[in-house]
Amino acid sequence: MNEFAEKLIHGRVHVSPKRLGDPGPDASQKNQILLAANAAPDHGRMMPWRFVEIGKGSRDALGEVFHQCLFDRDQNATHTQLQEAREKALRGPLLLLAVANYAGDTNEISKEEKLVSLGCAIQNILLSAYALGFGSGLSSGKALQSPGLRNLFNLAIHEDPICFITIGTVTQNKPGRIRPSLSDYHSIF
Ligand SMILES: Cc1cc2nc3c(=O)[nH]c(=O)nc-3n(C[C@H](O)[C@H](O)[C@H](O)COP(=O)(O)O)c2cc1C
Repeated sequence: MNEFAEKLIHGRVHVSPKRLGDPGPDASQKNQILLAANAAPDHGRMMPWRFVEIGKGSRDALGEVFHQCLFDRDQNATHTQLQEAREKALRGPLLLLAVANYAGDTNEISKEEKLVSLGCAIQNILLSAYALGFGSGLSSGKALQSPGLRNLFNLAIHEDPICFITIGTVTQNKPGRIRPSLSDYHSIF
């Protein structure tokens, strides 16, 4: 493998959204990053996913959903915890919601295949961001399953929110994880 590909694939690490600051990608870089998604494998050319950018003006509304979700599942949550939940929505200059789309008039392509396609699209986004010098992190959490979040993003019945993607400049580095060894996941039949 050439050195660039090797560095790209093995150099990318998860960076917590709280360690991703300004500057984020400019308009042209953002386009490059988002366009990488459309190179993902896609059985049946169904484009079973989309990405919603949560602009600065919408972060407070997302924060309100995070706050409400925590309150709904834990009435004993402290003021600080509720405030932290709200502030999570403000992290990172570029914030995307990855949405799976299971719609389609054929049963030939399973939900699982569609999720694989989304995973590939996400990885393309992460690698493109990394190639442009940015850090990235994925985040999930209970709020993704909440009706409040579905309402906020106006998700259709055949859509599911899968995870958030945060992209920005790495403000603080932490050592990456030790990756699994080949024998942990490869066998010969
Ligand atoms: C769908 C998905 C959701 C994730 N959600 C979280 C999360 O909520 N919090 C978190 O710390 N990491 C989250 N991660 C990132 C993983 O923790 C991270 O990829 C893993 O530790 C491996 O590290 P690496 O990406 O640096 O190889 C998520 C990853 C995926 C694929």
